[in-house]
Amino acid sequence: MTASREIALKVEGLRGGPFGADVLKGVDLEVHHGEVVALMGPNGSGKSTLLHLLMGHPDYEITEGQVWVDGVDVTGATVEERSRAGLFAAFQYPTELPGVPLEDLIREALTARGRDAEDVSVDEMARQIGMDPALLTRGVNDDFSGGEKKRSEVVQMEILRPSIAILDEIDSGLDVDALAASSERIREIAGQGTGVLLITHYKLLLDHVPPTTVHIFVDGRIDRSGGPELAAELEEAGYK
Ligand SMILES: Nc1ncnc2c1ncn2[C@@H]1O[C@H](COP(=O)(O)OP(=O)(O)O)[C@@H](O)[C@H]1O
Ligand SMILES: [Mg+2]
Repeated sequence: MTASREIALKVEGLRGGPFGADVLKGVDLEVHHGEVVALMGPNGSGKSTLLHLLMGHPDYEITEGQVWVDGVDVTGATVEERSRAGLFAAFQYPTELPGVPLEDLIREALTARGRDAEDVSVDEMARQIGMDPALLTRGVNDDFSGGEKKRSEVVQMEILRPSIAILDEIDSGLDVDALAASSERIREIAGQGTGVLLITHYKLLLDHVPPTTVHIFVDGRIDRSGGPELAAELEEAGYK
């Protein structure tokens, strides 16, 4: 067994929610390195809550269960420790940080992960995904359009090369060309060994970035799991 098939993210019996609310009711999940796993489910089923709990959002509390990144228990870790452990999150509604240039954020994150920030061509990576490099000098997400925010998240992910990337509705607000370009980058980074958890409502993203497993989330837990055919079935029949 090669290192690239080891487990990047493992979640066991996870419960919790905003201020400890019982939104997640026992979630078990595994994503291997180089693997794309999709998480689908109706609005309000707790998908974004899962991401906030995994990332250690200060308003969210894990009441039960455990989370490991590359075998390291990060259940009680700070956001920074999780990030250093190799966890990366693109939130459904990315935070705006006016006054913090995006390029500074990226270089700091690289240094925190022990990488030489000077060796990375941030401009080039931005261009590849069709993002105007001029955005790098602006405040993070400050007055970015919806699509620009999503592209900026993909660029950050690509530069950081995390162990596990969780992307919450990365396809929302992207036009057809931007979706294709972002999908290509996501496939590429999975090909380089990052485990990817895609939270989405739409099969279209999964046509571009084929998952090995699709989980359907209902009322705070995984209700059904299957292959990509599950996404097709959903599109036909809806969540009912
Ligand atoms: N402070 C809170 N206390 C209790 N429940 C909350 C709180 N904030 C959000 N929720 C509920 O958590 C549920 C899951 O929301 P969310 O994770 O955003 O779902 P999804 O991303 O799947 O659409 C929703 O029913 C929402 O109303
Ligand atoms: Mg959501």
